Amino acid sequence: MRHRTVYIFLSILTAVVLSVQCTKSSMDTDEPENSSPEPEVNKPLREQYSSSPDLWPSANWFSGVTKKELAFLPERVQTESPKVVELGKILFFDSRLGKRNNSCASCHVAENYWIDRAVVAVGGGNRNTPSIQDSWHLDGHLMLDGRAKTFAEQLTIAIESPHEMAGDVQALPGLLQAIAGYRILFQEAYADDNITTERILAALTAYTKSIVSGETSFDRFIKGEFSALNDQQLEGLHLFRTKAACINCHNGPFFTDLQYHNLGNSLDQQQLPDYGRFNFTNINADRGKFRTPGLRNVAHTAPYLHNGSVASLDLLVDLLSDGMPQMNGQRISGVLSPHIKPLNLSRDERSALLAFINTLSSERPAVTRPTLPN
Ligand code: HEC
Ligand code: HEC
Repeated sequence: MRHRTVYIFLSILTAVVLSVQCTKSSMDTDEPENSSPEPEVNKPLREQYSSSPDLWPSANWFSGVTKKELAFLPERVQTESPKVVELGKILFFDSRLGKRNNSCASCHVAENYWIDRAVVAVGGGNRNTPSIQDSWHLDGHLMLDGRAKTFAEQLTIAIESPHEMAGDVQALPGLLQAIAGYRILFQEAYADDNITTERILAALTAYTKSIVSGETSFDRFIKGEFSALNDQQLEGLHLFRTKAACINCHNGPFFTDLQYHNLGNSLDQQQLPDYGRFNFTNINADRGKFRTPGLRNVAHTAPYLHNGSVASLDLLVDLLSDGMPQMNGQRISGVLSPHIKPLNLSRDERSALLAFINTLSSERPAVTRPTLPN
């Protein structure tokens, strides 16, 4: 309530200041009157950002990009029953689902912000394990190339892929039926002990969707606690939205446009191309394109990119600043996104950008391993 009053006051103030400015500038030049609030370049950055985001200095949006401002973490409303989520958690930790003696939790390790810290997932695949925090918002765009439309599809790939668990979702009901403890758990979750593939996938989906990140300094800042970012972090936020133009792809509450782009780094460890989205769309323009990853907790999930080829955030920011030059004479598959250009960021600007990215971190997850049924 108090913040709203402050915003209203600030809006009126800005409107007054702007109308004075507009009158002045329309006398000086033939510029058409601009109705959207212009940044007041002479005001200190902190003052420009001490307001709700709709009053922030305008971002450097590229033409054709859907403008989606950064936003605080939305709360996920859990619609599944706690018993189903609990069953999903047990399945998540159970290596009996596949033939490789691993479980979802072997690669998506809670204490590591749900990753395995490997360059590519153990098991012979060519992709880096993503964090699955906040993946509920990826419904329709799952997997790094977006090839899974639903969680059921994504989980079937995870369970059946020879690189992941080498299981068989159709055989799972029989397998779990033979474990007395699971019959009780299904009874508790679904009111009868009928074990089906659909129920298994639904429970795993329920648990996976319940894995969310927490509040960050950035969230507190954007909600009006303006001291939550220091000057360097604030400069980083400004660069992210302006000179560095990251916001064109990393936007909204999760810092992703849910679109697919080619960042010019598409060879895997064997130097073979990973065509990304092209693998299943067969559309030439999709060659080498991957989904824009969200950036919450990204400071904790090195190494980076779909192939884990970039070891640190420092290095990635350097590469982005240089317009993603091809490393080690690497050949890119497809065409580099036209939105990736040299940014010529100074040392200080790169540090500020990194300082801002660090404000997107929330508390390290702590999950107790469940007791598996016999
Ligand atoms: C061997 C390691 C490994 C195991 C085991 C594994 N995953 Fe994954 N997971 C990955 C990798 C690698 C990807 C990205 C794959 C791709 O894009 O092709 C992924 C992607 C995902 C995604 C999509 C995230 C996104 O950003 O689109 C979800 C959700 C997920 N896994 C959940 C699970 C669940 C639930 C299980 C257990 C049923 C599981 N994973 C088992 C490595 C693993
Ligand atoms: C054209 C859209 C686009 C722009 C602009 C862009 N990114 Fe990205 N970003 C992506 C895509 C797509 C990926 C994943 C590419 C891949 O895996 O090959 C990515 C990956 C990343 C990653 C690695 C995340 C991870 O989990 O591996 C970080 C960090 C990142 N970007 C930060 C930035 C910053 C900082 C800027 C501004 C300097 C920026 N990006 C500009 C689209 C973009």
